[in-house]
Amino acid sequence: MKLWGGRFSKNTAKITDDFNSSIRFDCRLYKHDILGSIAHAKMLGKCGIISEEEASLICRTLEEILRDIENGLVEFDTEAEDIHMNIEKILISRIGDTGKKLHTGRSRNDQVALDMRMYLKDEIDSIKAMIVDLIGVLVKKAEENLDTIMPGYTHMQRAQPVTLAHHFMAYVQMFRRDYDRLSDCYKRVNVMPLGSGALAGTTYNLDRYFVASELGFDSITENSIDAVSDRDFIIELNADLSILMMHLSRFCEEIVLWCSHEFSFIELDDAYCTGSSIMPQKKNPDVAELVRGKTGRVYGNLLSILTVMKGLPLAYNKDMQEDKEAIFDSIDTVKACLPIFTKMIETMTVRKNKMYEAVKKGFINATDLADYLVKKGVPFRDSHNIVGRLVAYSIEKGKNLDDLTLDEFRKFSEKIAEDVYTVISPETCVKQRKLPGGPSYETVAASIQKTKEIFNIK
Ligand code: ARG
Repeated sequence: MKLWGGRFSKNTAKITDDFNSSIRFDCRLYKHDILGSIAHAKMLGKCGIISEEEASLICRTLEEILRDIENGLVEFDTEAEDIHMNIEKILISRIGDTGKKLHTGRSRNDQVALDMRMYLKDEIDSIKAMIVDLIGVLVKKAEENLDTIMPGYTHMQRAQPVTLAHHFMAYVQMFRRDYDRLSDCYKRVNVMPLGSGALAGTTYNLDRYFVASELGFDSITENSIDAVSDRDFIIELNADLSILMMHLSRFCEEIVLWCSHEFSFIELDDAYCTGSSIMPQKKNPDVAELVRGKTGRVYGNLLSILTVMKGLPLAYNKDMQEDKEAIFDSIDTVKACLPIFTKMIETMTVRKNKMYEAVKKGFINATDLADYLVKKGVPFRDSHNIVGRLVAYSIEKGKNLDDLTLDEFRKFSEKIAEDVYTVISPETCVKQRKLPGGPSYETVAASIQKTKEIFNIK
């Protein structure tokens, strides 16, 4: 007999049970479902809707069920549809009529909204902790590479010299924003929906604030229809996770490039690479590629939930059950990617000399040469043109700018003097970019210090 079987004269078809059932994926909500029920039962007792004895029997038994599930002693039942009815059924099987009182003043619609909010709060916290670990590693690597000069790129062409520290700290800014986005999302998840019933609240005089404070919620939802219909907190989280994955994926793309023979800027630790079944020489950056690849499924999940929700009339519709596999998968994916990505970065070797070799070629000091002429009184557009011609000349001669003799320089501009060589050295190019936000040693060191304070990194 189904818990809702009263108005039915026939059993549901087996195929309907299988199709309808969400227990195979929502079983992960068991702990939050039970803790939510305990708070609800306590409140029912406190408000005199059930007796205190009944409430405490229900709470004790729910705690037992929680322990049993954690010890692997409970098998869930597809016929009982979802985690909410599975737990309730087990409760009733243990304490009979008293167990039947738990669902007083509650619907699965507000119950599932509560469970998801509780579950997501925990997951947001754990993802935030993983981001802090990653930021910690990046900051440490940045500290070790404050004076590791490398080419910065635009259009994948060598552009201007930066440092590896500056480059890594660019990602730190992105991950800081990801962290902040999650904190912000948390605020909207942290609202307690129980008491909204199926959609129209309930006639019992429930103490919603009591339930909220028992469960550590900041506030309660303001409209019962919205509370059971709203999934935007799930969509928002998935959107935040998509942006986070996009950042990881860009970083992965660079890791893949940098450990290629063509770049050789870094070497990944053997423990985070794999080989080829046919080519004995291969050491492949599979971890980085997989993180980049898995970004697609997190985006897909976002689109999937958005699409599920777009045509739904208020209030609850069963379509909404489809939110779960999508957001669960996004969370699992992010939680699988972040720690291994962090390890991969932590253990990689930076080939400072290779980066420096790349800095020496590609005319990345051309802007600095143009600026040098500006400081000697040449208007920028003219100096840009002079240096452009100097670059063309150097390419023809197979030289770098700093290989040119003073005589060669002076054929292009009389203003160029002996001091040009210091000015266009990669070290000076970086050192002179000391304005806020720039790549100079001091600026980046200050940014590292600030990040360490924000995240309490030792
Ligand atoms: N398993 C359902 C879900 O995930 C729980 C809510 C069911 N409510 C209902 N009225 N059938 O959405």
